[in-house]
Amino acid sequence: MTRTVNVGILGKGTVGGAFRKLLNERADMVEEVSGRRPRVSGVLSRKQGDFDRILARSDILVELIGGTDPALDYVTRALREGKHVVTANKQLLAQHGEELVAAAREGGAQLRFEAAVAGAIPVIRVVQESLGAIPIEKVFGIVNGTTNYILTEMARSGLSYDEALKQAQDLGYAEADPTDDVGGADAAAKMAILARLAFGAPVQLEDVPYEGIERIKPDDISYAKELGLSLKLLGVAERVGDNRVSVRVFPCFLYPGHPLSPISGPFNAVMVESPAITEITMSGPGAGGPETAAAVLGDVVSVIGGGSPLFEENAKLRIAKDVEMAFYLHLEVDDEPGVLAQVAEVLGDNGVSVRSVVQRGLGGEAQLIMVMHPVSERSFAAALKRIAKLNFLRSPPRSIRVIEEEFG
Ligand SMILES: NC(=O)c1ccc[n+]([C@@H]2O[C@H](COP(=O)([O-])OP(=O)(O)OC[C@H]3O[C@@H](n4cnc5c(N)ncnc54)[C@H](OP(=O)(O)O)[C@@H]3O)[C@@H](O)[C@H]2O)c1
Repeated sequence: MTRTVNVGILGKGTVGGAFRKLLNERADMVEEVSGRRPRVSGVLSRKQGDFDRILARSDILVELIGGTDPALDYVTRALREGKHVVTANKQLLAQHGEELVAAAREGGAQLRFEAAVAGAIPVIRVVQESLGAIPIEKVFGIVNGTTNYILTEMARSGLSYDEALKQAQDLGYAEADPTDDVGGADAAAKMAILARLAFGAPVQLEDVPYEGIERIKPDDISYAKELGLSLKLLGVAERVGDNRVSVRVFPCFLYPGHPLSPISGPFNAVMVESPAITEITMSGPGAGGPETAAAVLGDVVSVIGGGSPLFEENAKLRIAKDVEMAFYLHLEVDDEPGVLAQVAEVLGDNGVSVRSVVQRGLGGEAQLIMVMHPVSERSFAAALKRIAKLNFLRSPPRSIRVIEEEFG
């Protein structure tokens, strides 16, 4: 005998509206695969519905309000009462993951959040369930579609950062206030969630240093293009040594052949590396109402189907304070003898070795573009600090990380 499952929907915006429509359209299919027919037990917005009444009537709450107030209170109360929760809210998870998991345990409820990272790409399910018993070494990728769109357009059409941002806003790929996306905070929240799942490490949002793309110049991209490099905003979560993890967000050049280098426009892609599987790459739409709603519906089906994902923490893992990376360095210099030698000396003093150097322009246009071999980020930062003080520089030095790994 099939029974009804009551689904309360908190939020009726871009994702909430699309989810309600999809749930109605797919009710037959949900019943077919899960054995229970979903029914909307209430919808909450600022102007409509009463949370307590919806909570009392629901078996599952789908939180699509966003932010932490009042979402944290609603979700915590629901979980403690044993109501399952599905959410797309990365800020909620990244800032309050621990207490939400505790509330879910207390109430014996499930908490699912596939849509909080990389929209429609089932990366949470893969990391948490499909690869749940495999030691993951590294999870990294393009987890913000706004910045990937902007960088793609800067490379493709030679637009400035401001022009590409304006275009992204006109097309609905960037919000009116794009700060969290372009500054890297959105990607940092997603990487904190992924790192917790991949390593069980107690990664807090403040453990994730991030840089955005606001300072990228068309120059950086065009020189890199000549070298066959493409620029992406990457989130990286990796094991470092035996007992440390590093989680960071930064713009980064990729060599051709890297699986992330062809990911363009507003798309997202996430790679998972483990000795057991070599690597898996997943790509697809990272946002959008209907796309995100599809991931939310998948979580609802999983909740109905039962089974609880693992949330074990590995207390031994600590946050690594320094890791090795390769760097690109762009210097606008006075055209005079000895410039390259002085830069090389500072780099050498700090243990930074140069992989390639290109000199461009003459007189007031002279530029040095260098790519380094991998080096400790601290050593490179120390070298950069000294280089910035050299008196032949015409503008502050610009550096961007480079991933050297080649695939295929
Ligand atoms: N948009 C995407 O492509 C996307 C992709 C992945 C994840 N997400 C996540 O999905 C969530 C929802 O995003 P969205 O784009 O759908 O947001 P949205 O369009 O701004 O919709 C938010 C909804 O929440 C309601 N709401 C706001 N504050 C409320 C309050 N205090 N009490 C009750 N209801 C309240 C709003 O009510 P009113 O209708 O009355 O204003 C609106 O219906 C966020 O966590 C977001 O990060 C979105």
